[in-house]
Amino acid sequence: MKVAFFDTKNYDIPGFEEYGKKNGMKFKFYETKLNEDTAALAKGCEAVCVFVNDTVDKNVIDKLCGLGIKIIALRCAGYNNVDIEYAKDKIAVVRVPAYSPYAVAEHAMALLLTSIRRIHKAYIRTRDFNFSLNGLTGFDLHGKTVGVVGTGKIGRIFIDICRGFGMNVIAYDKFPAKDSGIEYVELEELFRRSDIISFHCPLTEETYHMVSKETIGQLKKGVVLLNTSRGALIDAEALVEGIKSRQIGAACLDVYEEEGDVFFNDFSGHIIADDILARLISMPNVIVTSHQAFLTEEALNNIAETTVANLVAFSKGEKSGNELN
Ligand code: NAI
Repeated sequence: MKVAFFDTKNYDIPGFEEYGKKNGMKFKFYETKLNEDTAALAKGCEAVCVFVNDTVDKNVIDKLCGLGIKIIALRCAGYNNVDIEYAKDKIAVVRVPAYSPYAVAEHAMALLLTSIRRIHKAYIRTRDFNFSLNGLTGFDLHGKTVGVVGTGKIGRIFIDICRGFGMNVIAYDKFPAKDSGIEYVELEELFRRSDIISFHCPLTEETYHMVSKETIGQLKKGVVLLNTSRGALIDAEALVEGIKSRQIGAACLDVYEEEGDVFFNDFSGHIIADDILARLISMPNVIVTSHQAFLTEEALNNIAETTVANLVAFSKGEKSGNELN
């Protein structure tokens, strides 16, 4: 099987070459993202492999079908960038539902600790031999209430980590896990009671702009927001206003709603066109990482192994269990 691989980064290649070779697969690695203009690069292949910021809308699906592509293999869990409904009966779509929930949950906690203990500030100070502690006062996590939105694979691990810190955990999920011992509350109550809120639900029409101009007032004053899920759960413009008004005490973002044109690329030395992102990054109580939460050796290995297994199963006419349509 020949596979056109879009949005390739150096760290993707070794794992995919290893598992691809073992299974007689050939990858054509493209740095460009998949969109209407680049879909033609998949000519001569039977499959495309895409990531979180590739565009897989109606037009791209039509183009891929026209080229004889039989399957779209997502090398990620979230699939909000794919028109699954439209792909139905036209082209198969598979994903990697879980590759390391630990990677994401641990990154969320790393962001939280960095933010509230001012590690990002201290690191820069001591490198400059500035050993002053002024302005670095943090707060204990022990005894604080953390609200977890979405208690699936990642959310549950994040809850365990928080419990290890002696935090009180409350959660909201559209489908609460029975007999889990988790204290579920309505979203509004979670917003009202939480000192820290961490988002681990998928991006859907329902979850789009969960934090918005309308809901920011419901949040506890000074709340710390953690988003390692999908950017558009939070209205970034409203977030800027919420931080300026001090309603939001800090924000840790591994995802951003307009990340598609910026994240994963080196723009140092450039003038960033996105004023909201630039404003957020300029704030001392905002930490941005560029969709990095998944990036561990274990996760990359699992992603390559599962994606190749998904493609092998498809080529044999078998089910992998990871089909989206
Ligand atoms: P999962 O499918 O195991 O869990 C998602 C949970 O969200 C489920 O319990 C589900 O019931 C709940 N949910 C669904 N609709 C909801 C709603 N309207 N309101 C509240 N909860 C709702 O997914 P997993 O593996 O835990 O991943 C969570 C999210 O993390 C993914 O959707 C993905 O967007 C994001 N992610 C981010 C990564 C990164 O590198 N930053 C890497 C991997 C995933």
